[in-house]
Amino acid sequence: MNVSQLAQVNNDDQQELEQFAADVFTGLSSDPKYLSAKYFYDDTGSELFQAISQHEDYYLTRTEYEILDSHSPYLPALLGEDEIDIIELGAGDGHKSELVINRFLEAGVKVNFHAIDISEKAIDMLGETILERPNLSVHGLIGDYFEGLRFLKGRTSKRQLVLFLGSNIGNFNHTESKAFLRRLWSSLNADDYLLIGFDLKKNINELINAYSDSSNYTRDLNLNLLARINRELGGNFDLSGFQHYAVYNPELGAMESYLLALGEQKVFIEALQQEFEFEAFEPLHLEYSFKFLPAEIDSLCKQTGYKRIENFSDKQDRFIDSLWQVTLRNG
Ligand SMILES: C[S@@+](CC[C@H](N)C(=O)[O-])C[C@H]1O[C@@H](n2cnc3c(N)ncnc32)[C@H](O)[C@@H]1O
Repeated sequence: MNVSQLAQVNNDDQQELEQFAADVFTGLSSDPKYLSAKYFYDDTGSELFQAISQHEDYYLTRTEYEILDSHSPYLPALLGEDEIDIIELGAGDGHKSELVINRFLEAGVKVNFHAIDISEKAIDMLGETILERPNLSVHGLIGDYFEGLRFLKGRTSKRQLVLFLGSNIGNFNHTESKAFLRRLWSSLNADDYLLIGFDLKKNINELINAYSDSSNYTRDLNLNLLARINRELGGNFDLSGFQHYAVYNPELGAMESYLLALGEQKVFIEALQQEFEFEAFEPLHLEYSFKFLPAEIDSLCKQTGYKRIENFSDKQDRFIDSLWQVTLRNG
């Protein structure tokens, strides 16, 4: 991907930093304390996620890759287009995108690929994975999902296939998922497609291993968020005073990631001119990863304005990539 095809959707770094500071203030002033997982992905965070995704304990990436490898050859015929705009939300390093794009190119379909990711590092890595070639144009957009979609409005004209892979949807709770999918629906045209990855409910030990990998990359990803606050907002978190803890909440149907303060800690954040106190063993909530049953996926689909075309699953039924189509819109 060359630089002219890379757009920073939100050009205002100062505004982004202020939003980060405001979100940190809200999260650390709450009881219980929390931080938003969307801030995991600075350069170090994106590299750590890439390491997690290649780790044997993290079954999600290789399982979804297996699904896309065996089922994406059917996509070009199912969609029946000769040119398509593929838009990926939270594309990461682009290894899964490359697989899907190749199936369309092999079927003679021209592809305009637009990758949206909040992390510049992720878009850099994707640019190294996916190279332009005949019938394929590649555009990297650095920004939030909906900033990217707004930027693309009027810049795309073909049938759209939106990819939302990696069970990124699982980071939202049920209310947020519905709001997200409905908002996505309103930015698409009738008959556009969405291929969306859902991690399924399964044996709890398998889940816990995936979110506490034996190489401690997930711990490091979580601690990196505190390091990011130290770097970007002038915080003085002592990282050695926190322990990573991942647990399955069966009532919510979600993995939850925490950092637990091992002892009392006072953290001063210069950008906020504010001190925050942690008591010994106080939890800091960082991430939800909701897990799904096939029936829950269907009901989410129906409730948000799509119809299901096909569910693609792996041999062990660990994960589903569900192909949805936007149903007729009013007006
Ligand atoms: C868990 S990784 C998944 C990457 C890839 N989709 C996959 O399946 O391997 C999440 C990706 O989404 C990006 N991301 C997270 N929140 C985002 C947001 N609000 N807007 C845009 N990108 C976001 C992160 O930077 C990261 O690259």
